[in-house]
Amino acid sequence: MTFSGASPTLNSFLMSKNLEKIFFEIHRSRPRILSSAPGRINLIGEHTDYNNGYVLPAAIHLKNYFLASPGQDNLVHVWAENFQQEDSFSLDQIVPSEQHRWVNYIRGIFWVLQKEGYKLGGTNALVWGEVPLESGLSSSAALEVSVMKGLTELFGINLPPERMAKLAQEAENDFVGVKCGLMDQFIAVFAQKNKALFLDCETLAYELFPLNLEKNELRILVHDTKVRRKLAASEYNVRRQEALEALNILREIKGVRTYKEATTDLLEDVRRAMPDVFYRRAKHVISENERVQKALEFLKIDQFAALGKLLYESHESLRDDYEVSCPELDLLYETGKEFPDCLGARLVGAGFGGSGIALLKQAHIERFKAKLLAKAEEEGFPKPEFHIISVGEGATAKHLPG
Ligand code: GLA
Repeated sequence: MTFSGASPTLNSFLMSKNLEKIFFEIHRSRPRILSSAPGRINLIGEHTDYNNGYVLPAAIHLKNYFLASPGQDNLVHVWAENFQQEDSFSLDQIVPSEQHRWVNYIRGIFWVLQKEGYKLGGTNALVWGEVPLESGLSSSAALEVSVMKGLTELFGINLPPERMAKLAQEAENDFVGVKCGLMDQFIAVFAQKNKALFLDCETLAYELFPLNLEKNELRILVHDTKVRRKLAASEYNVRRQEALEALNILREIKGVRTYKEATTDLLEDVRRAMPDVFYRRAKHVISENERVQKALEFLKIDQFAALGKLLYESHESLRDDYEVSCPELDLLYETGKEFPDCLGARLVGAGFGGSGIALLKQAHIERFKAKLLAKAEEEGFPKPEFHIISVGEGATAKHLPG
């Protein structure tokens, strides 16, 4: 959600007080719970989650907030502060709305919890988000997970964290109708401050790794290109399908079960047995899984220069083999490559617009931003937006006093 007017720098205590006040004005009662869940970047491991591969995301300080109290009967009233819009629906019949997209991410969470047999009740709620919409920073998972975390707190539901992530993904897949992988919901639930999360998307085994940026005088800059591609969802599904078909050929000829078991050498052996486009999709997935594993080794010893090189390689692979980049994101990569104090840069999330990240020496961020801004203007691209991120924590929920 492009929450214009939202001030991410606002002290979170003041902000929650402000939201409580708005809640009272809308619902004429006080909220009982306040929950939140973060957006994310992904250090490396792009388009690997739905290919049962490896990812290495981290949460950002930009979050979505959800406030709620029990309501009347089986009715749910949700106020979206960013849109200044309300949605009302009955728990007896939850169906997607044709009118407003944002409501489906919330309805979907009520829907999936009820479908799983959890007992919910009428609810008054308010949502407010800081994660820019369709920016590749996963505002949708932040919204879904904040709502789910809040509802479990409000109705005393004991939901194991892994199940929470899976159900939020199911809501997005089956209710909203977006066939995303698990990365975004998983990091929104499991993130820890100043840590990156390594996840094997097949086994769901995960491990947190220190991401000591500040200690090393580094920061991650998010470059939101402001490009929003209408075709992103359909192209995403096409990539999924192509990657799956390439894997099926690898399976048939080489007997590998998943991409994790394949190597680039093995892929070369079967190159002639598949169309070039399948070969390139598979090449990206296999090499990206390898890059994630290398990245872990570098993270363990704070080898950020080596990690940065992997980011550049990841972008090249996403641009040339997976073909999910765009000129605005390529400009970030090129600007990074020419800038000695940029260690690495690449697109994040699904691609086709949205955001990229650059790993930069802290002292030179402003110079880098100015350079990128000037180049974007020269090219006639939309004016980008920048966020210097702090690596934040995962979803939280608390009861509010009285
Ligand atoms: C989107 C999806 C994720 C993942 C990325 C690409 O963000 O929601 O599940 O597939 O694209 O890595």
